[in-house]
This record gives sequence, C-alpha cells and structure tokens, in this order.
Amino acid sequence: MTPTIAIVGAGRVGRALARKLREKDWTIAAVVARSESSARSAVRAIGAGRPQHQLSRRVLDADIILIATPDDAIRAVAAKLAELGGQECRGKIIIHTSGALDTAALEPLSLAGAATASMHPLQTFGGRGAPPLEGVVFVIQGHRRAQAAARKIVHALGGLPIALRASAKPAYHAAGNFASAYLLTMIRTGVQILMSLGFSRRRAKMALLPLVDQTLANFKRFGAHAAWTGPMARGDYATISRHMRSLAASPREFAEAYAALARLSARVLAARPEHTLQQLNRVLSKG
Ligand SMILES: NC(=O)c1ccc[n+]([C@@H]2O[C@H](COP(=O)([O-])OP(=O)(O)OC[C@H]3O[C@@H](n4cnc5c(N)ncnc54)[C@H](OP(=O)(O)O)[C@@H]3O)[C@@H](O)[C@H]2O)c1
Repeated sequence: MTPTIAIVGAGRVGRALARKLREKDWTIAAVVARSESSARSAVRAIGAGRPQHQLSRRVLDADIILIATPDDAIRAVAAKLAELGGQECRGKIIIHTSGALDTAALEPLSLAGAATASMHPLQTFGGRGAPPLEGVVFVIQGHRRAQAAARKIVHALGGLPIALRASAKPAYHAAGNFASAYLLTMIRTGVQILMSLGFSRRRAKMALLPLVDQTLANFKRFGAHAAWTGPMARGDYATISRHMRSLAASPREFAEAYAALARLSARVLAARPEHTLQQLNRVLSKG
C-alpha cells in the first residue's frame, strides 16, 4: 500500500511532485493553497486531491504532509498545523521542500510528536509544466522515519536521494543557485548588452544560445578545464581590460559582476589561482 499524502502549498513544486506521485498511484489527500481558485486549479493540475484554501485538522488525515509553501511561510504553517492538530500530530510524517532551510523550520510539529524532514529537489520548477525528475538529486535531512518516507517519495519520482547534514543546507543551496539562477543572470546580461548594440531581444537570444548550449555540452563531455575558453583561459589580460572599458557605458553592476566573475574564474578554473589573480588585479585596478 502506498501512503496517502497531503500537499500544503500547491504552487510549482507542490503541484509537480503531487502530479507525478498521483501517476505512480499514490493517493493525494488535501491540497492546500491560500485562495480557493488556486487550490482548485492545483487539484485540476494534479488530477486528484481535495482542494482547501485554509489549513484544517483534516490535512492530518494523510500519512505524509508535504509542505511546499515559500520558505518564509514554512515556520508559520508548521506552527498553525501543530496548533490545529495537537495530539493528532503524533506519529505523522511532515516534510518540507526548501533547499536552504532544515527541519528547524518544522520545530513546532516535531515538538508535537511528528517525524520531520526536509527534501529538496535540485531542479528548477520555473515556467509552465513540470520538469523531468528522473535522475534528479533530492537532498534529504531530518528524523530517521521521515527520511525513510522522503526516500520512498524520491524513488517513486525516479530521483536520487542524498543525505546531507542540516548545517550544510545553505551552502548546498548556494551551489544550486550558482548553477541555475545565476546562470540565467549571466545569459540575460549578455542579451542586454547585445540589445544595447542594436540586436532585437529575439536575435540576441538566438545569437547567444548556441554558445550556451555548446559550453554545457563541452562541460558535460570533457569537464570544466577542457571546456574553458575566452580571454581568462588564454591569459589575455589586454582583452579583459577592453571588456571592462566597454562596460563603463552600462549600469555599474555590469562591470562589477564582470570583475567579480573574472576573479572567480581565476579561483575556480585557473591552474595557478594566486598567480592569475595577481595579474588580473593589476588590470582591474587600472579601471
Ligand atoms: N521553484 C523551484 O524551482 C524550487 C525548486 C526546489 C525547491 N523549491 C522550494 O519549494 C517550495 C515552494 O516553492 P514554489 O516555487 O513551488 O513556490 P510557489 O510556486 O510560489 O508556490 C507556493 C504555494 O504555497 C502557497 N502558500 C503560500 N503561503 C501559504 C500559506 N501560508 N499556507 C498555505 N499555502 C501557502 C501558495 O498559495 P497560492 O497559490 O494561493 O498563492 C502557492 O500555492 C519553497 O520552499 C522553495 O524553496 C522551489
């Protein structure tokens, strides 16, 4: 028998995970959002569940409660659920999906006797529709029983559960942010520079995407060092200086980020980081 699962916070992550679990024959119980229309549309997207626009004790009818609200709402939701549930929390499994937070955010529930865990999919749930989860790492920490339940969910989703200590979660989440959100920031910055030179947004995107795709393909196939090209990889500081001068016309964050990324490249990619940083700092300090 698969356990029943309630979803509290039926946004991008809550809907996507619940939909895939439903496809694997899990029973979806309460589906909670803040508004009635959002809860109903979540139930339609999931294909199962009972819509609720407020927390109630009925959420605790499920064996597992998955909290997928924004990070800053998790503690308040946990406190409310503990208050509503009282003794009924005992023995329940309650899991949140935040990357940066650990089970401390669920403390009111663990004090009420629930087994708590955090289970974070290292995947981006932007745009429309659910992203693939096969082979995706899910970082798990928390109470032993709740971790076992989280692993069961991850296996049902086709993901790869990995245990991580609570204190490592913010750094782990920062790593994901570099690889996803900040990657997007870099691409968008390139698009804006080309647009300032007269490219249409569409043309700028089309121009940069093959570069992005090939960089990722080379990284996948050959690793970071072999894939590394550009003036920093060649030790061509004169070109870096030209780039910096050209960015003087853009908002100041452009040149600041360029300089910070050049230094970071020296740190994480150069064969002799200290030597490369010394050379680089000479060029960057000339401004
Ligand atoms: N997005 C990602 O790529 C991603 C990836 C991995 C993990 N996560 C984590 O997953 C969690 C959810 O992120 P998300 O991107 O799915 O957020 P989201 O799309 O903004 O959805 C949040 C959901 O929570 C509901 N909600 C907000 N406050 C609530 C409250 N007090 N009580 C009950 N429901 C509440 C919202 O209701 P309404 O619909 O009515 O507004 C919405 O359905 C976060 O912890 C995030 O860090 C996100």
